[in-house]
Amino acid sequence: MRDANILGIESSCDETAAAVVRSGEQIASNVVFSQIAMHQPYGGVVPELASREHLRAIVPVVRKALADAGQSYQSIDAIAVTQGLGLAGALLVGISYAKALAFSLDKPLIAVNHLEGHIHAVLLEERRKGNHELRFPVLALVVSGGHTHLYLAKQESNSWSYQNIGHTRDDAAGEAFDKVAKLLGLGYPGGPIVDKLSAHGDPHAVKFPPPQLKHRDRNDRNAARTYDGPRFDFSYSGIKTAVLRYVETHNMQASIAERRKALLAITLPRFEDYLSHSDKQMLDLVASFQRAVVEDLAGKTLAAARAYDVATLFVTGGVAANQELRQQFEQDAAREGLSVYFPSRPLSTDNAAMIAAAAYPKFLAHDFAPMDFSAEAGMVLK
Ligand code: KG4
Ligand code: ZN
Repeated sequence: MRDANILGIESSCDETAAAVVRSGEQIASNVVFSQIAMHQPYGGVVPELASREHLRAIVPVVRKALADAGQSYQSIDAIAVTQGLGLAGALLVGISYAKALAFSLDKPLIAVNHLEGHIHAVLLEERRKGNHELRFPVLALVVSGGHTHLYLAKQESNSWSYQNIGHTRDDAAGEAFDKVAKLLGLGYPGGPIVDKLSAHGDPHAVKFPPPQLKHRDRNDRNAARTYDGPRFDFSYSGIKTAVLRYVETHNMQASIAERRKALLAITLPRFEDYLSHSDKQMLDLVASFQRAVVEDLAGKTLAAARAYDVATLFVTGGVAANQELRQQFEQDAAREGLSVYFPSRPLSTDNAAMIAAAAYPKFLAHDFAPMDFSAEAGMVLK
């Protein structure tokens, strides 16, 4: 197999990232410039600001990725970039720059689906550890701020294909973490802080009913409806509303307003600051919320694994960084005799190493993008 240094570029949401990965298995560099601090005062990602920030960051971030890897523009073998899913304006910054580089350097250009990147983050992690054995069929749960998808992943030679067998019908799991955190005055993004605070609360204090799939599927465009087997869809908007109702019926508004004000007054709050502004009622609520989401994600994924008789589970995307989620999956997979793999935490959240890794099989297959391809905000993974 041909060795190749691929420069990956990722700008789909609020991270400007570039990385050089050698032959899909060695990370020569991995630079992530996070815009979180800039979006924090708005309580979420502001698309226009994200595009502007990507424009500012893209050149220095790519330059640093090349320098860290000891590579030059000339020495890399190909340029890979996220084509979708994501914010159209944000994606266009990465794509335009990748095209300009590919054109001026006369290098192949490879377009990568962001979700495929998350799946290949797991493969990259395992190859880095020297694990080249993979038992198929593989079921991948991609769980992040924008996505909660279940894919059966197949490999034939250098070609990977994916069948969607489940997705969220409304909010993504990470989105629910973010909305609940915002609601409780914990700021943005919510996942990491809810993860840490949950360890200090009682996960059985508040009972949430299991998510019901009653309403229409508002994310249908994200699924490739080519497969007739059983489906395992998710829904997380109900639990977010249940948290809101709990807050209202338990008169938590005043303490939330105080917490929000106190945390806003601290420039970069540390975990101790969050903890010292949390009371038992709030800690029990976040722990119970997290438990309910983790139980649902693991329960549905394991049910899908049984239905499709898979041998291996991948759990990836920002929410895969969650401590309780990892423990739950490890426990459930061991019970069912399945192998379960996660990316390391830096590879779980958005990065460009996963884009460069996903591009390597396409590089070997000469699956190059034409110069006129464009961003696809709702790109389907097939
Ligand atoms: O994959 P990612 O970086 O971006 C998207 O593609 O969306 O995921 C970001 C999401 C956010 O919703 C964030 O709150 C969540 O992942 N997240 C977590 C944790 N770390 C990040 N959720 C739960 N526990 C965590 N430790
Ligand atoms: Zn992502």
